[in-house]
Amino acid sequence: MIRLLSVVGARPNFMKIAPIVEELKKFPDIEHCLVHSGQHYDELLSGNFFSDLGLPVPDVNLQTGSGSHAVQTGEIMKRVEPVLIAYKPHLVLVVGDINSTIAAALTAVKLGIKVAHVEAGLRSFDMTMPEEINRKLTDALSTLLFVTEQSGVENLKHEGVPTEKIFLVGNVMIDCLLRHRQLAARSLLLDRLGLRQNGSAHRPYAVLTLHRPSNVDDSETLEGILRAVSAIAIELPVLFPIHPRTRKNIESFGLLNYLSTDEAPGRVGIVPLDPLGYLDFLSLNDHARLVLTDSGGIQEETTVLGVPCLTLRENTERPATVEYGSNQVIGVNPDRILEAAHSILQNPVMPFRRPPLWDGEAAPRIVAILRQHLRLESRD
Ligand code: UD1
Repeated sequence: MIRLLSVVGARPNFMKIAPIVEELKKFPDIEHCLVHSGQHYDELLSGNFFSDLGLPVPDVNLQTGSGSHAVQTGEIMKRVEPVLIAYKPHLVLVVGDINSTIAAALTAVKLGIKVAHVEAGLRSFDMTMPEEINRKLTDALSTLLFVTEQSGVENLKHEGVPTEKIFLVGNVMIDCLLRHRQLAARSLLLDRLGLRQNGSAHRPYAVLTLHRPSNVDDSETLEGILRAVSAIAIELPVLFPIHPRTRKNIESFGLLNYLSTDEAPGRVGIVPLDPLGYLDFLSLNDHARLVLTDSGGIQEETTVLGVPCLTLRENTERPATVEYGSNQVIGVNPDRILEAAHSILQNPVMPFRRPPLWDGEAAPRIVAILRQHLRLESRD
Protein backbone atom coordinates (compact mmCIF):
# COMPACT_ATOMS: atom_id res chain seq x y z
CA MET A 1 0.00 0.00 0.00
CA ILE A 2 1.33 3.42 -0.99
CA ARG A 3 0.62 6.21 1.51
CA LEU A 4 0.25 9.67 0.02
CA LEU A 5 -0.46 12.81 2.02
CA SER A 6 -1.60 16.10 0.44
CA VAL A 7 -1.65 19.47 2.13
CA VAL A 8 -3.97 22.27 1.02
CA GLY A 9 -4.69 25.54 2.77
CA ALA A 10 -6.37 28.30 0.83
CA ARG A 11 -8.98 28.87 -1.83
CA PRO A 12 -6.79 28.47 -4.95
CA ASN A 13 -5.48 25.11 -3.66
CA PHE A 14 -8.83 23.40 -3.46
CA MET A 15 -9.61 23.29 -7.19
CA LYS A 16 -6.08 22.02 -7.87
CA ILE A 17 -6.31 19.08 -5.49
CA ALA A 18 -9.91 18.10 -6.40
CA PRO A 19 -9.13 16.38 -9.73
CA ILE A 20 -6.17 14.57 -8.14
CA VAL A 21 -8.29 13.30 -5.23
CA GLU A 22 -10.85 12.08 -7.75
CA GLU A 23 -8.21 10.28 -9.82
CA LEU A 24 -6.60 8.66 -6.76
CA LYS A 25 -9.92 6.97 -5.94
CA LYS A 26 -9.35 4.70 -8.94
CA PHE A 27 -6.34 3.05 -7.33
CA PRO A 28 -6.99 0.86 -4.30
CA ASP A 29 -3.24 0.42 -3.76
CA ILE A 30 -2.96 4.11 -2.78
CA GLU A 31 -4.07 5.37 0.59
CA HIS A 32 -4.54 9.13 0.61
CA CYS A 33 -4.64 11.49 3.57
CA LEU A 34 -5.96 15.01 2.89
CA VAL A 35 -4.71 17.68 5.29
CA HIS A 36 -6.19 21.21 5.42
CA SER A 37 -3.86 23.68 7.09
CA GLY A 38 -6.74 26.00 7.99
CA GLN A 39 -4.98 28.99 6.37
CA HIS A 40 -8.38 29.91 4.95
CA TYR A 41 -11.06 29.23 7.53
CA ASP A 42 -14.07 31.34 6.44
CA GLU A 43 -16.96 29.33 5.07
CA LEU A 44 -16.91 31.62 1.99
CA LEU A 45 -13.22 30.99 1.26
CA SER A 46 -13.02 27.34 2.23
CA GLY A 47 -16.11 25.32 3.23
CA ASN A 48 -18.13 26.25 0.14
CA PHE A 49 -15.33 25.04 -2.08
CA PHE A 50 -15.20 21.62 -0.50
CA SER A 51 -18.91 21.11 -1.11
CA ASP A 52 -18.90 22.63 -4.63
CA LEU A 53 -15.93 20.49 -5.68
CA GLY A 54 -17.21 17.29 -4.07
CA LEU A 55 -14.07 17.15 -1.93
CA PRO A 56 -14.24 14.93 1.14
CA VAL A 57 -14.00 16.53 4.58
CA PRO A 58 -10.24 16.73 5.19
CA ASP A 59 -8.82 13.86 7.25
CA VAL A 60 -6.99 16.42 9.34
CA ASN A 61 -7.61 20.16 9.81
CA LEU A 62 -4.70 21.97 11.42
CA GLN A 63 -6.84 25.08 12.09
CA THR A 64 -3.89 27.41 11.73
CA GLY A 65 -5.75 30.58 10.72
CA SER A 66 -4.31 34.00 9.88
CA GLY A 67 -1.14 35.69 11.02
CA SER A 68 2.01 37.34 9.69
CA HIS A 69 3.89 35.29 7.10
CA ALA A 70 6.35 33.98 9.68
CA VAL A 71 3.66 33.17 12.23
CA GLN A 72 1.41 31.48 9.68
CA THR A 73 4.19 29.50 7.99
CA GLY A 74 5.81 28.51 11.29
CA GLU A 75 2.50 27.53 12.84
CA ILE A 76 1.61 25.29 9.87
CA MET A 77 5.04 23.62 10.14
CA LYS A 78 4.61 22.99 13.86
CA ARG A 79 1.16 21.55 13.38
CA VAL A 80 1.83 19.40 10.31
CA GLU A 81 5.02 17.77 11.65
CA PRO A 82 3.31 15.39 14.13
CA VAL A 83 0.79 14.44 11.44
CA LEU A 84 3.60 13.49 9.07
CA ILE A 85 5.41 11.55 11.80
CA ALA A 86 2.27 9.60 12.68
CA TYR A 87 1.07 8.92 9.12
CA LYS A 88 4.51 8.17 7.61
CA PRO A 89 3.60 9.01 4.00
CA HIS A 90 5.84 7.76 1.18
CA LEU A 91 5.38 11.15 -0.44
CA VAL A 92 3.84 14.54 0.36
CA LEU A 93 1.95 16.32 -2.41
CA VAL A 94 1.65 20.11 -2.38
CA VAL A 95 -0.06 22.40 -4.88
CA GLY A 96 0.33 26.05 -5.83
CA ASP A 97 2.33 28.74 -4.11
CA ILE A 98 0.76 29.71 -0.80
CA ASN A 99 2.26 29.70 2.68
CA SER A 100 0.77 26.24 3.35
CA THR A 101 2.65 24.90 0.30
CA ILE A 102 6.12 25.90 1.46
CA ALA A 103 5.38 25.09 5.11
CA ALA A 104 4.34 21.52 4.30
CA ALA A 105 7.17 20.97 1.81
CA LEU A 106 9.85 22.19 4.21
CA THR A 107 8.52 20.13 7.11
CA ALA A 108 8.34 16.99 4.96
CA VAL A 109 11.87 17.16 3.50
CA LYS A 110 13.32 17.80 6.97
CA LEU A 111 11.72 14.53 8.03
CA GLY A 112 13.25 12.78 5.02
CA ILE A 113 9.92 12.54 3.16
CA LYS A 114 9.90 13.26 -0.56
CA VAL A 115 7.77 16.08 -1.94
CA ALA A 116 5.94 16.43 -5.24
CA HIS A 117 4.94 19.94 -6.30
CA VAL A 118 1.97 20.50 -8.58
CA GLU A 119 2.23 23.81 -10.51
CA ALA A 120 6.01 23.92 -10.30
CA GLY A 121 8.29 26.20 -12.30
CA LEU A 122 6.08 29.27 -12.63
CA ARG A 123 8.06 32.47 -12.09
CA SER A 124 7.01 36.13 -12.00
CA PHE A 125 10.66 37.12 -11.33
CA ASP A 126 9.26 39.46 -8.69
CA MET A 127 10.62 38.53 -5.28
CA THR A 128 8.38 41.09 -3.55
CA MET A 129 5.49 38.65 -4.14
CA PRO A 130 5.16 36.18 -1.26
CA GLU A 131 4.00 33.58 -3.77
CA GLU A 132 7.24 33.89 -5.81
CA ILE A 133 9.29 33.14 -2.70
CA ASN A 134 7.05 30.17 -1.92
CA ARG A 135 7.31 28.87 -5.49
CA LYS A 136 11.09 29.02 -5.69
CA LEU A 137 11.64 27.43 -2.30
CA THR A 138 9.07 24.69 -2.81
CA ASP A 139 10.56 23.78 -6.18
CA ALA A 140 14.05 23.64 -4.67
CA LEU A 141 12.78 21.12 -2.10
CA SER A 142 10.76 18.88 -4.41
CA THR A 143 11.70 15.59 -6.01
CA LEU A 144 8.90 15.58 -8.58
CA LEU A 145 8.00 18.84 -10.31
CA PHE A 146 4.69 18.85 -12.18
CA VAL A 147 4.56 21.78 -14.57
CA THR A 148 1.57 23.43 -16.29
CA GLU A 149 3.24 25.25 -19.18
CA GLN A 150 6.49 25.24 -21.18
CA SER A 151 7.81 28.43 -19.50
CA GLY A 152 7.90 26.50 -16.22
CA VAL A 153 10.08 23.81 -17.74
CA GLU A 154 12.51 26.44 -19.05
CA ASN A 155 12.61 28.25 -15.69
CA LEU A 156 13.44 25.07 -13.80
CA LYS A 157 16.14 24.10 -16.29
CA HIS A 158 17.67 27.57 -15.91
CA GLU A 159 17.76 27.03 -12.17
CA GLY A 160 19.71 23.84 -12.71
CA VAL A 161 16.96 21.34 -11.90
CA PRO A 162 17.74 17.97 -13.53
CA THR A 163 15.34 17.24 -16.39
CA GLU A 164 14.36 13.84 -14.97
CA LYS A 165 12.59 15.64 -12.10
CA ILE A 166 10.51 17.85 -14.43
CA PHE A 167 7.17 16.69 -15.89
CA LEU A 168 5.08 18.89 -18.19
CA VAL A 169 1.64 17.49 -17.39
CA GLY A 170 -0.83 20.28 -18.10
CA ASN A 171 -3.06 22.13 -15.67
CA VAL A 172 -5.13 20.54 -12.91
CA MET A 173 -7.02 23.80 -12.41
CA ILE A 174 -8.28 23.42 -15.98
CA ASP A 175 -9.19 19.76 -15.31
CA CYS A 176 -11.37 21.10 -12.53
CA LEU A 177 -12.93 23.82 -14.66
CA LEU A 178 -13.78 21.49 -17.56
CA ARG A 179 -15.32 18.95 -15.18
CA HIS A 180 -17.51 21.51 -13.46
CA ARG A 181 -18.51 23.80 -16.31
CA GLN A 182 -21.83 22.07 -17.03
CA LEU A 183 -22.74 21.97 -13.37
CA ALA A 184 -21.87 25.65 -13.05
CA ALA A 185 -24.26 26.41 -15.93
CA ARG A 186 -27.10 25.50 -13.52
CA SER A 187 -26.10 28.25 -11.10
CA LEU A 188 -28.87 30.79 -10.57
CA LEU A 189 -26.46 33.57 -9.62
CA LEU A 190 -26.85 35.45 -12.91
CA ASP A 191 -30.64 35.40 -12.55
CA ARG A 192 -30.42 36.64 -8.97
CA LEU A 193 -28.16 39.50 -10.08
CA GLY A 194 -30.53 40.49 -12.89
CA LEU A 195 -27.92 39.64 -15.52
CA ARG A 196 -30.08 37.04 -17.27
CA GLN A 197 -33.83 37.06 -17.72
CA ASN A 198 -35.67 33.72 -17.51
CA GLY A 199 -32.66 31.74 -18.60
CA SER A 200 -32.38 33.78 -21.83
CA ALA A 201 -29.70 36.18 -23.12
CA HIS A 202 -27.17 37.69 -20.76
CA ARG A 203 -26.73 41.40 -20.21
CA PRO A 204 -23.12 42.40 -20.81
CA TYR A 205 -21.19 42.71 -17.56
CA ALA A 206 -17.61 42.66 -16.32
CA VAL A 207 -16.04 40.94 -13.30
CA LEU A 208 -13.41 42.35 -10.95
CA THR A 209 -11.30 40.51 -8.35
CA LEU A 210 -8.51 42.01 -6.25
CA HIS A 211 -6.54 40.55 -3.38
CA ARG A 212 -2.78 40.95 -4.07
CA PRO A 213 -1.13 42.81 -1.17
CA SER A 214 0.65 45.11 -3.67
CA ASN A 215 -2.76 46.24 -5.00
CA VAL A 216 -4.98 46.26 -1.95
CA ASP A 217 -2.67 47.19 0.94
CA ASP A 218 -1.69 50.54 -0.60
CA SER A 219 -4.51 53.12 -0.50
CA GLU A 220 -3.39 55.08 -3.57
CA THR A 221 -3.05 51.99 -5.75
CA LEU A 222 -6.38 50.59 -4.58
CA GLU A 223 -8.14 53.92 -5.14
CA GLY A 224 -6.59 54.28 -8.63
CA ILE A 225 -7.89 50.85 -9.63
CA LEU A 226 -11.37 51.51 -8.22
CA ARG A 227 -11.49 54.90 -9.95
CA ALA A 228 -10.64 53.38 -13.33
CA VAL A 229 -13.07 50.51 -12.87
CA SER A 230 -15.89 52.83 -11.81
CA ALA A 231 -15.42 54.69 -15.12
CA ILE A 232 -15.75 51.35 -16.95
CA ALA A 233 -18.81 50.60 -14.82
CA ILE A 234 -20.69 53.51 -16.40
CA GLU A 235 -20.93 51.35 -19.54
CA LEU A 236 -21.70 47.97 -17.99
CA PRO A 237 -22.07 46.64 -14.43
CA VAL A 238 -18.85 45.34 -12.87
CA LEU A 239 -19.46 42.47 -10.46
CA PHE A 240 -16.93 42.49 -7.64
CA PRO A 241 -16.76 39.48 -5.27
CA ILE A 242 -14.62 40.96 -2.51
CA HIS A 243 -11.84 39.08 -0.67
CA PRO A 244 -11.99 39.76 3.11
CA ARG A 245 -8.59 41.47 3.08
CA THR A 246 -9.71 43.80 0.27
CA ARG A 247 -13.04 44.60 1.95
CA LYS A 248 -11.27 45.49 5.17
CA ASN A 249 -8.95 47.87 3.30
CA ILE A 250 -11.71 49.47 1.21
CA GLU A 251 -13.43 50.29 4.49
CA SER A 252 -10.38 51.52 6.37
CA PHE A 253 -9.10 53.63 3.43
CA GLY A 254 -12.55 55.29 3.12
CA LEU A 255 -13.19 53.99 -0.43
CA LEU A 256 -16.71 52.63 0.04
CA ASN A 257 -18.03 55.45 -2.16
CA TYR A 258 -16.70 53.57 -5.22
CA LEU A 259 -19.10 50.68 -4.60
CA SER A 260 -22.69 50.73 -5.82
CA THR A 261 -25.30 50.76 -3.05
CA ASP A 262 -28.23 50.29 -5.40
CA GLU A 263 -29.98 47.05 -4.43
CA ALA A 264 -32.10 46.79 -7.61
CA PRO A 265 -31.26 43.87 -9.87
CA GLY A 266 -29.63 44.96 -13.09
CA ARG A 267 -27.87 47.90 -11.44
CA VAL A 268 -24.74 49.46 -12.90
CA GLY A 269 -21.57 50.64 -11.18
CA ILE A 270 -19.20 48.41 -9.21
CA VAL A 271 -21.51 45.86 -7.62
CA PRO A 272 -20.03 44.48 -4.37
CA LEU A 273 -20.60 40.79 -3.62
CA ASP A 274 -19.41 38.40 -0.92
CA PRO A 275 -16.75 35.93 -2.07
CA LEU A 276 -18.48 33.34 -4.27
CA GLY A 277 -18.37 29.55 -4.26
CA TYR A 278 -16.58 27.75 -7.09
CA LEU A 279 -19.63 27.02 -9.24
CA ASP A 280 -21.19 30.48 -8.94
CA PHE A 281 -17.87 32.15 -9.74
CA LEU A 282 -17.31 29.88 -12.73
CA SER A 283 -20.74 30.72 -14.13
CA LEU A 284 -20.08 34.43 -13.58
CA ASN A 285 -16.76 34.29 -15.46
CA ASP A 286 -18.08 32.05 -18.21
CA HIS A 287 -20.52 34.70 -19.41
CA ALA A 288 -18.53 37.86 -18.62
CA ARG A 289 -17.69 40.33 -21.38
CA LEU A 290 -14.46 41.21 -19.58
CA VAL A 291 -12.60 40.12 -16.43
CA LEU A 292 -10.22 42.39 -14.51
CA THR A 293 -8.11 40.59 -11.93
CA ASP A 294 -4.83 40.30 -10.05
CA SER A 295 -5.30 36.56 -9.46
CA GLY A 296 -3.05 33.96 -11.06
CA GLY A 297 -5.63 31.22 -11.48
CA ILE A 298 -8.25 33.49 -13.06
CA GLN A 299 -5.82 34.35 -15.87
CA GLU A 300 -5.76 30.62 -16.66
CA GLU A 301 -9.50 30.08 -16.32
CA THR A 302 -10.43 33.00 -18.59
CA THR A 303 -7.96 31.70 -21.18
CA VAL A 304 -9.88 28.44 -21.38
CA LEU A 305 -13.28 30.15 -21.20
CA GLY A 306 -12.24 32.50 -24.03
CA VAL A 307 -13.15 35.58 -21.97
CA PRO A 308 -10.92 38.67 -22.35
CA CYS A 309 -8.85 39.18 -19.19
CA LEU A 310 -6.95 42.27 -18.04
CA THR A 311 -4.36 41.40 -15.40
CA LEU A 312 -3.85 44.33 -13.02
CA ARG A 313 -0.20 43.52 -12.26
CA GLU A 314 3.16 44.37 -13.76
CA ASN A 315 4.03 40.74 -14.53
CA THR A 316 2.61 37.26 -14.79
CA GLU A 317 4.09 33.91 -13.84
CA ARG A 318 1.71 32.38 -16.39
CA PRO A 319 2.91 33.72 -19.77
CA ALA A 320 1.06 31.00 -21.71
CA THR A 321 -2.18 32.87 -20.91
CA VAL A 322 -0.81 35.83 -22.89
CA GLU A 323 0.86 33.83 -25.65
CA TYR A 324 -2.12 31.57 -26.36
CA GLY A 325 -5.02 32.96 -24.41
CA SER A 326 -7.10 36.02 -23.71
CA ASN A 327 -4.86 37.63 -21.11
CA GLN A 328 -3.20 41.07 -21.25
CA VAL A 329 -0.91 42.14 -18.42
CA ILE A 330 -1.52 45.88 -18.10
CA GLY A 331 -0.42 47.01 -14.64
CA VAL A 332 -2.37 49.36 -12.38
CA ASN A 333 -2.14 52.75 -14.07
CA PRO A 334 -5.79 54.00 -14.15
CA ASP A 335 -5.54 55.49 -17.69
CA ARG A 336 -4.03 52.29 -19.02
CA ILE A 337 -6.78 50.19 -17.41
CA LEU A 338 -9.49 52.37 -18.96
CA GLU A 339 -7.87 52.37 -22.38
CA ALA A 340 -7.40 48.58 -22.41
CA ALA A 341 -10.97 47.97 -21.21
CA HIS A 342 -12.45 50.30 -23.84
CA SER A 343 -10.48 48.64 -26.56
CA ILE A 344 -11.85 45.23 -25.53
CA LEU A 345 -15.43 46.48 -25.19
CA GLN A 346 -15.38 48.21 -28.59
CA ASN A 347 -14.13 45.17 -30.50
CA PRO A 348 -15.65 41.74 -31.05
CA VAL A 349 -14.16 38.89 -28.98
CA MET A 350 -11.67 36.90 -31.04
CA PRO A 351 -11.25 33.14 -30.59
CA PHE A 352 -8.33 32.17 -28.34
CA ARG A 353 -6.16 29.07 -28.20
CA ARG A 354 -5.53 26.82 -25.23
CA PRO A 355 -1.97 26.12 -24.12
CA PRO A 356 -0.79 22.57 -24.89
CA LEU A 357 -2.03 19.90 -22.46
CA TRP A 358 -4.69 22.12 -20.89
CA ASP A 359 -7.10 19.39 -21.90
CA GLY A 360 -8.63 18.17 -18.64
CA GLU A 361 -6.24 15.21 -18.31
CA ALA A 362 -3.49 16.62 -16.08
CA ALA A 363 -4.56 14.73 -12.94
CA PRO A 364 -4.43 11.27 -14.61
CA ARG A 365 -0.94 12.14 -15.91
CA ILE A 366 0.21 13.21 -12.45
CA VAL A 367 -1.17 10.13 -10.71
CA ALA A 368 0.37 7.82 -13.33
CA ILE A 369 3.80 9.38 -12.74
CA LEU A 370 3.36 9.24 -8.94
CA ARG A 371 2.42 5.56 -9.09
CA GLN A 372 5.32 4.70 -11.32
CA HIS A 373 7.76 6.65 -9.13
CA LEU A 374 6.50 5.19 -5.86
CA ARG A 375 6.36 1.61 -7.16
CA LEU A 376 9.91 1.88 -8.46
CA GLU A 377 10.93 3.37 -5.11
CA SER A 378 9.48 0.51 -3.08
CA ARG A 379 11.42 -1.99 -5.24
CA ASP A 380 14.75 -0.26 -4.45
C1 UD1 B 1 -3.59 33.63 0.20
C2 UD1 B 1 -2.34 33.29 -0.60
C3 UD1 B 1 -2.48 33.82 -2.02
C4 UD1 B 1 -3.78 33.33 -2.64
C5 UD1 B 1 -4.94 33.78 -1.75
C6 UD1 B 1 -6.29 33.43 -2.27
C7 UD1 B 1 -0.20 33.25 0.66
C8 UD1 B 1 1.07 33.98 0.88
N1 UD1 B 1 -1.14 33.92 -0.06
O1 UD1 B 1 -3.64 35.06 0.31
O2 UD1 B 1 -1.40 33.35 -2.79
O3 UD1 B 1 -3.91 33.89 -3.93
O4 UD1 B 1 -4.73 33.15 -0.47
O5 UD1 B 1 -7.26 34.06 -1.49
O6 UD1 B 1 -0.34 32.14 1.10
N2 UD1 B 1 -8.93 36.11 5.96
C9 UD1 B 1 -10.22 35.93 6.33
N3 UD1 B 1 -10.74 34.68 6.29
C10 UD1 B 1 -10.02 33.60 5.89
C11 UD1 B 1 -8.68 33.79 5.52
C12 UD1 B 1 -8.16 35.03 5.53
O7 UD1 B 1 -10.91 36.85 6.71
O8 UD1 B 1 -10.58 32.49 5.85
C13 UD1 B 1 -8.36 37.45 5.97
C14 UD1 B 1 -7.56 37.69 7.22
O9 UD1 B 1 -7.77 39.01 7.63
C15 UD1 B 1 -6.14 37.52 6.76
C16 UD1 B 1 -6.20 38.01 5.33
O10 UD1 B 1 -7.51 37.64 4.87
O11 UD1 B 1 -5.23 38.21 7.54
C17 UD1 B 1 -5.17 37.39 4.43
O12 UD1 B 1 -5.28 35.96 4.49
P1 UD1 B 1 -4.01 35.04 4.15
O13 UD1 B 1 -4.37 33.62 4.18
O14 UD1 B 1 -2.88 35.46 4.96
O15 UD1 B 1 -3.65 35.44 2.67
P2 UD1 B 1 -4.54 35.76 1.39
O16 UD1 B 1 -4.45 37.22 1.15
O17 UD1 B 1 -5.91 35.16 1.41
